[in-house]
Amino acid sequence: MVGLGAKKPPSRRGSMADVPQDLIKQIERLEELFLVPAEKLKEITDHFISELERGLREENATIPMNATWCMEFPDGHETGTFLALDMGGTNMRVCEVTLSDQAGEFDIIQSKYRMPEDLKTGTADELWGYVADCLQQFIGYHHEGEKIEALPLGFTFSYPATQEYIDHGILQRWTKGFDIDGVEGKDVVPPFEAALKERGVPIKLTALVNDTTGTMIASAYTDPLMKIGCIFGTGCNAAYMENCGSIPKLAHMNLDPNLPMAINCEYGAFDSEHKVLPRTPYDIIIDKESPRPDQQAFEKMIAGLYLGEIFRLVLLDLNQQADCNIFDGQDISKLKKPYSLDSGFLAAIEEDPFENLSETQELMQTKLSLKTTKPELELIRRLAELIGTRAARLSACGVAAICKKKGWSTCHVGADGSVFNKYPHFKVRGAQALKEILDWPENKGKGKGDPVEMFPAEDGSGVGAALIAALTLKRVMVGQNAGIRDPEAMKAVAKFAKKA
Ligand code: BGC
Repeated sequence: MVGLGAKKPPSRRGSMADVPQDLIKQIERLEELFLVPAEKLKEITDHFISELERGLREENATIPMNATWCMEFPDGHETGTFLALDMGGTNMRVCEVTLSDQAGEFDIIQSKYRMPEDLKTGTADELWGYVADCLQQFIGYHHEGEKIEALPLGFTFSYPATQEYIDHGILQRWTKGFDIDGVEGKDVVPPFEAALKERGVPIKLTALVNDTTGTMIASAYTDPLMKIGCIFGTGCNAAYMENCGSIPKLAHMNLDPNLPMAINCEYGAFDSEHKVLPRTPYDIIIDKESPRPDQQAFEKMIAGLYLGEIFRLVLLDLNQQADCNIFDGQDISKLKKPYSLDSGFLAAIEEDPFENLSETQELMQTKLSLKTTKPELELIRRLAELIGTRAARLSACGVAAICKKKGWSTCHVGADGSVFNKYPHFKVRGAQALKEILDWPENKGKGKGDPVEMFPAEDGSGVGAALIAALTLKRVMVGQNAGIRDPEAMKAVAKFAKKA
């Protein structure tokens, strides 16, 4: 595993010598807007904790704190063969996961299908039809000629869903740019199953899983110290294991208070009433112009979908300010195109190893057809650093809030997503912010990692979803049926999970 060593990201502050006054002034203004000091991080974290608690108490709280009915960690001895489906933003992935009886080991075969962009704003029928087609193709290819009655499926559906049962889920709202009519407020499982049935695809949905829950469970499969699963990708969110007695909104179900219950926090929604997050004018534009204004406030400041757009809006604004000279006299039509820059663009700027920022210059030219001077490049680099650093520091508030709420002074956090895995310095900046929020003394953890440490997760939407399906069938077989809609149907499918 890769820990978050104490290596500091390089600073380029010394190279501002030749930057003219108007750009210096703008850089200072941007620093003022985007830097989040430790005190502010602590204030955000404190408000976060009370919002996590409110979500456990109230239906329809800002942070939903969805009970997922995933009610135990794996013990490493789960066995059987399961399908896993991951409906992500860019791709759809279908896996067949075979959990071996060797603790923590598994085999996986998988196929990836492109998720057509227009599907995200199309109709519900098109969406479920496409998903079912991919599954049909996968089974047709990998099980050609076999007579299959039903394969159990863990379906990773990475959007906020309320679940009364593990095998259903009512979509609360679309996030991450999805905007398909007629799905919000409804159970997503019946239309999905209907599309499978129409095509004669022999699958029984066993568990509807959030990517964060999958990440937590998959990571815990190989590391018993894992307590939180996080995604820092197109969207952002976390899951952790609560005990039923600490979830007042489930009190009417009279569950054993000591039973564990995985909570999908959906904390991308944090502070959607704008009480504490230091929003800039650019964050306000992003929110207003998104398909779902006033939702996912936290996510819109830190997730991969938005980082490039924040950057674009700042540059556009600077170009339009009379007392700031940047890209003067150039055609800025490409810069005017919303969402034309992704977080990979920002990452590439931050990764430019050359003192003269020649790679950044080339990027600006090829992607935006803009010629840049050295001082402009200095501003661009600093802006990318500010946006990336703010994202990492704010991200730490969510993790710190869960740890503080649960009273965990040490734990491992499994993290996944494109920003966590690919954005330069994200991990180190996040670790630094955790240290500031949680007030670790300088020498604490020296040589053995930080008390709360983030690690790249195991494959949550493949192995994690399969494990959650396996844990659900295990529960049914011993008569622990809480949160399972049709235990008899599940029992029937349990036998297909085992390899003959
Ligand atoms: C979704 C979450 C998901 C997160 C990371 C958010 O937009 O609401 O369900 O876990 O993205 O993928």
